[in-house]
Amino acid sequence: SRLIVPGETLRKGGQRPPFLPVAPPFWLQRPPFSAAPIEAGAGMGYLPSHFGQDPAMTPPRKLFVKTYGCQMNVYDSERMAEAMGGAGYVTTENPAEADMIVLNTCHIREKAAEKVYSELGRLKPLKAANPELKIAVAGCVAQAEGAEILRRAPMVDLVVGPQTYHRLPQMEAEARAGGRPVDTEFPPEDKFDHLPKGPRAGRGPAAFLTVQEGCDKFCAFCVVPYTRGAEVSRPAARLMAEARDLVARGVREITLLGQNVNAYHGEGDAGPWTLARLLRAMAGIEGLARLRYTTSHPNDMDDDLIAAHGDLPALMPYLHLPVQSGSDRVLKAMNRRHTAADYLRLIERLRAVRPDLALSGDFIVGFPGETEADFEATLDLVRRVGYHSPFPFKYSARPGTPAAERPVLPDSVLDERLYRLQALIAQQQRAAQSAMVGREVEVLFEKPGRMAGQMMGKSEHLHAVNVTAGGLAAGDLRRVRITESRTNSLAGVLV
Ligand code: 5AD
Ligand code: SF4
Repeated sequence: SRLIVPGETLRKGGQRPPFLPVAPPFWLQRPPFSAAPIEAGAGMGYLPSHFGQDPAMTPPRKLFVKTYGCQMNVYDSERMAEAMGGAGYVTTENPAEADMIVLNTCHIREKAAEKVYSELGRLKPLKAANPELKIAVAGCVAQAEGAEILRRAPMVDLVVGPQTYHRLPQMEAEARAGGRPVDTEFPPEDKFDHLPKGPRAGRGPAAFLTVQEGCDKFCAFCVVPYTRGAEVSRPAARLMAEARDLVARGVREITLLGQNVNAYHGEGDAGPWTLARLLRAMAGIEGLARLRYTTSHPNDMDDDLIAAHGDLPALMPYLHLPVQSGSDRVLKAMNRRHTAADYLRLIERLRAVRPDLALSGDFIVGFPGETEADFEATLDLVRRVGYHSPFPFKYSARPGTPAAERPVLPDSVLDERLYRLQALIAQQQRAAQSAMVGREVEVLFEKPGRMAGQMMGKSEHLHAVNVTAGGLAAGDLRRVRITESRTNSLAGVLV
């Protein structure tokens, strides 16, 4: 359910309605913690500069990757950089010096394809300055538009869908030879099998691991089942091996990723494994301190997964569980196949086993046919649950989805509802943060903070925590007493 940049829904005619700051979800955050677009190139300093370089060869070619959208795309960008590393590329943060530019696109926001075309237009001068520059469009817009991109954007050299990134080096060679390859297939082979084993492409001690892709839920507003395709789970043994490998390379926290991650049902010994079983097995990996997963559908929260929140200390007390609306009428129209009461019961069961569970979620306001009473039911649900960091979105039609056929509400209604939901959410978020002041939390330190001598890490509840202290290193897991709540972070001292 997760492919967004929340800020984008807030723009209307170039103007932002009054917006109370809500931090983007962590899977969208990467240094320097901005909202979209995420510059994957900028985050790829971890790839050593010699990576993929053959000393006998001419200087390596440079790759710039620009990533839009969700954490899944960030992960895919890292894999593409690794694949191109095997073909002699190093990453750059400067598109002007790149020999290849990849736009890793997201289709979940409104007019996504149009935005990609205008971004491509902006790349024209670079292509004019360097005719050898190869431009690739990847991701969900590539999947949705396919060869149409080559027709509309003559500067594009290749188009690659999310399932065939392992073929990127071969496609790049084809493009250098004068071709314009397009590959938006869903091939039978596992793309993960083909990626070269390079240095770890992740950030410090917290890593992501994609365990499933695609979605079979077909929520009426959502493009994911069309762009990412049917739900496919990766085999459990592979994932266990990758998790062990990450830990051997210093990772202490793993977030299992998937568009509908709790639908995971990978092959394994003694029948298919569920997400709960995978989490239980990973919790046994020595040196792995923390596990998280995102993002989930309420109907796939099975009994064992709920129990795992109570009995797996490594499973962090934070859950992103989107409900989208608090109105049963709207939930039905959205094809969510659960009621608001089902969701509330689920939250109750989760909190019964893990009382300090921090909840996050997604909400769509102004879905076609939503009445004032429906919207108030959403506000009511938000009040009853009490969220740490939920994400409100203004409905907008995605071509090809069932909801796109339905009459839309006036924009003024959407803006007004979004504003009211944001106000409530901001209030809850501030309360959740302030409640941490004076408490002791465990922080996994990830990297230096903005101030000299400061280190930034994440609490169990996924709050960003800054501590100024000597001798702290990335990967340290330390107890911290929270002394202050700031806009989007907490400050504390070591205990
Ligand atoms: N309009 C508005 N929000 C949407 N989302 C998905 N599709 C749409 C749409 N057409 C939101 C949902 C989902 C999140 C990733 O993006 O809330 O959970
Ligand atoms: Fe999430 Fe529904 Fe979209 Fe699947 S179809 S990714 S469950 S919003």
